[in-house]
Amino acid sequence: MNSLSEIRSFLLALKQMGIEDLVVKTERELKSFIEEVKKCNKCRLAETRTHVVFGEGKYDADIMFIGEAPGEEEDREGRPFVGKAGRLLTRLMEDAGLKREESYICNVLKCRPPNNRDPEKDEIEACKYFLFQQINFVKPKVIVTLGRHAYNTLFETDEKITRIRGEIKKFRDVNVLPTYHPSFLLRNESKIKEAMEDFEKAKYLLLRYRH
Ligand code: URA
Repeated sequence: MNSLSEIRSFLLALKQMGIEDLVVKTERELKSFIEEVKKCNKCRLAETRTHVVFGEGKYDADIMFIGEAPGEEEDREGRPFVGKAGRLLTRLMEDAGLKREESYICNVLKCRPPNNRDPEKDEIEACKYFLFQQINFVKPKVIVTLGRHAYNTLFETDEKITRIRGEIKKFRDVNVLPTYHPSFLLRNESKIKEAMEDFEKAKYLLLRYRH
């Protein structure tokens, strides 16, 4: 299979057979999946992006961080969370004793919305299949959702992050910890303390799995 339309027809055939989801299982399958995603033109963001930012990190990480969408620097470099918000994310991780290189980091949207505007509903719809494949593949023990879009996409809801941050939720059998988005924290420094508590909680959840 070498084009998105072929993959779509294949998935449709599977659906008609009662198989709802194709799970990317091997690293090789993931690599060819990423190559397909890089060619994606399922929504308008394909016209304005420089790079598709699929995500990065350890393929079998115990912890996954999900942001909103690539910003300007991420779009330029093709890597998630490499700008100012990314530096804050890395600091929060390190302060909690979590190593960036041992985690998996990605976004709901794989392409940058122009001027960093909020993702549109149809863009999330078009893109969320890629995120679910990443979760299926990495099989993290803990997911930290950064901001409302990541949380609301996983749970198909419309929650305010201020209401649910710090509460442990379950997505399938994975612990999910919703917290603030680092870009929000850059504008609201007084909330950094709460975010630090959330990252500590995520670390604690991880340790519970390891012992
Ligand atoms: N904001 C996000 O949500 N993701 C990034 O990768 C960078 C900034």
